[in-house]
Amino acid sequence: MSVTRRYREAWEGFWREASDEPGAVIWDAEPALTAGPHLALFEPHLADPALPLVDLGCGNGTQTRYLADRFGRVLGADLSAAALDHARRADPAGQATYRQLDAAEKSEVQALHAELGDTNVYVRGVLHQCEPDDRQALVDGIATLVGDRGRALLVELSGAAKPVLMGLASGPAGPPPKLAPVFRHGLAPGEVSDEAVPEYLRSAGLTVLASGELPLSTTEYRPDGTRIELPSRWLVAGRTG
Ligand SMILES: C[S@@+](CC[C@H](N)C(=O)[O-])C[C@H]1O[C@@H](n2cnc3c(N)ncnc32)[C@H](O)[C@@H]1O
Repeated sequence: MSVTRRYREAWEGFWREASDEPGAVIWDAEPALTAGPHLALFEPHLADPALPLVDLGCGNGTQTRYLADRFGRVLGADLSAAALDHARRADPAGQATYRQLDAAEKSEVQALHAELGDTNVYVRGVLHQCEPDDRQALVDGIATLVGDRGRALLVELSGAAKPVLMGLASGPAGPPPKLAPVFRHGLAPGEVSDEAVPEYLRSAGLTVLASGELPLSTTEYRPDGTRIELPSRWLVAGRTG
């Protein structure tokens, strides 16, 4: 099942309007605050670090390029062609490769698995805002890519992020400038409950191997100059036994 046209167009519109400027997008924090600490959590659980690594829902590829410095073969995959345009422009040397993919569409994910075999999969901030009917299909897609030997690291906004986002959006000055385009394009962050994520993974045949909480750094600051961080959870999952 593929995502709805509305959802696909919401992402295309968002990325078409987004600037190439580093940090212009609210979640586009530097890898030292993002993929770096995530890798430290992921690496102890990798059964085979030599497998290709897929950055699923890679957006403009900031984290993908960091991962490509550390793994032999890295593919950034995203639903949005405009996101991949950003990612390719920012990676003229082609450290990673990029591919348009709807992770909720079984045939597309199966084709990628047929090409790469089992992969390790990094997923940051994709499930928490996908449409309710697509959530299980997206996690099934992750399980297909992981296969028997790969592992997945998901980092997703937790339920507690929603009131923080709503508080920011309803401030007297309106939403902070970098949050406004998210809502304007009809994206709905922080919608998946904390309990639901391990359930989707289990239904997809994956075992949760480790999990925890970690604030998600944004590129936006409060009037007092402090960086906005959003509550998020991370989970490592794979097939075992
Ligand atoms: C919040 S952004 C996060 C981007 C990147 N992971 C990061 O941390 O900077 C979510 C990304 O997931 C992509 N996405 C959403 N649904 C998807 C799907 N079904 N398949 C592939 N990518 C998807 C969007 O186009 C968007 O670029």
